[in-house]
Amino acid sequence: MFEDLQFTNPIIVSVCVSLSLVLTPFSYSIPASCEEIFKVCFFLICVLTQVVTDEIMKPFGRTYIPSSYVKYIESGGSRVMPIRLTLTTSEYENIFMKINGLIFIGGDADLETSDFARVAKIFYRLALAANDAGDYFPIWGTCMGMQLLTVLVAGENLLTKTPAENLALPLNLTTEVQSSRMFNTFPDELINALTQEPLTGNFHNYGITIKDFQENEMLQSFFTILSTNIAKNGAHFVSTFEGKRYPFYGVQWHPEVNRFQWYRKLNFPHSRHAVQLSSLLAEFFVNEARRSLHHFDSPAEEESSLIYSYSPVYVANITAYEQAYFF
Ligand SMILES: *[C@@H]1O[C@H](CO)[C@@H](O)[C@H](O)[C@H]1NC(C)=O
Ligand SMILES: *[C@@H]1O[C@H](CO)[C@@H](O)[C@H](O)[C@H]1NC(C)=O
Repeated sequence: MFEDLQFTNPIIVSVCVSLSLVLTPFSYSIPASCEEIFKVCFFLICVLTQVVTDEIMKPFGRTYIPSSYVKYIESGGSRVMPIRLTLTTSEYENIFMKINGLIFIGGDADLETSDFARVAKIFYRLALAANDAGDYFPIWGTCMGMQLLTVLVAGENLLTKTPAENLALPLNLTTEVQSSRMFNTFPDELINALTQEPLTGNFHNYGITIKDFQENEMLQSFFTILSTNIAKNGAHFVSTFEGKRYPFYGVQWHPEVNRFQWYRKLNFPHSRHAVQLSSLLAEFFVNEARRSLHHFDSPAEEESSLIYSYSPVYVANITAYEQAYFF
C-alpha cells in the first residue's frame, strides 16, 4: 500500500502472461512448456488497471498502471496486456484462456468490495480450477497484491497494522527457502546479501502477521512462508510466501522499484544486489508463465490487446512514479 507515500494514487495491477499459438505446432504429447511446442514463445502479461482517484492525475485518464510494473515484466521476457475492471465475468473468463499468468500489483483498493477485488476473485477462482485440472497458471501478488491473495485464500480479511512505509529491509529468510521455487536458482552470494543488505523496498501500512497467518488453517495449508520482517510497530509480518500446491506467489515488498523507480525522497534499493534480485524474480515469474499454454485465437486479436498501443506519460513531477500508462 502506498497510502502514506504521496504516490498520489493507488494502483492495482494484475499481470497476465500469454503466449501466441500463431506458429504451427509440431506433434507433441502434453508438453511441459511452450518451448517444447514452438520454436518461439510470445508471452503476454496482463495488468489490471486501477481507478484514478487523485485529482492531479485525473486529467490523464480514468484508470492507470505505473510503468515500473510493465518494465519489470517486460524485463523478464514477456509482453504486457492491461485488463480493465469494467468487463463482465464471461469476458474475463474469455481473457483467462488467452493469458499465461497474472500479477496483482500494489495499490490502495478495498480488498473485499472494490472492482479490483471483484475482478481479482474471478481470476483467482479460474486459476485454482485450471491448476486443479493440470492447466498450469501462475499468479503473483506484490504488496497489496499479496495482501489480496491472503484475503482470497483465507476468505476473510486478516490484515492488521504492520507499518513499514518507505523502509528498505533485508529479509529474514525461513529454512524453507532452500527448497522453494522462488529462490532455488539464486546464487549463494545473493541469498547471503538478501539476509544482510536492505534489498527490499517496503511501502505498506498493513500486512499479515506471522501469528495470524499461522493461526489460519487456510493460509497455513496453502502457502509456505519464505521470509518475515519486523514492522515499525514491532509486529512480525510475513514478507514472502509461495503456494504449496499452486504456483501462486506473494511479496509484501516491491521488486519492481529496484530497477524502475527513482524518486529521491523514497528508499528504493538500487544496489547491484538489489537489481539482481529484481531481475531474477522477474525472470522467475515469466518462466512460470511459460508453462501455461493459453493463447489468443488470432495474431490480430493478440496485438490489439497489448500495452504497446498505449504510450506511457511522464508523471515524475506529480507522483513517485517516473511514468504511468493511462486508460
Ligand atoms: C527471524 O525469524 C525468526 C523466526 O522465523 C524469529 O525468531 C526472529 O526473531 C526473526 N528475526 C528478525 C530479525 O526478524
Ligand atoms: C508535469 O510535467 C508534464 C510534462 O512535462 C507537464 O505537462 C505538467 O504540466 C507537469 N505538471 C505539473 C503539476 O507541474
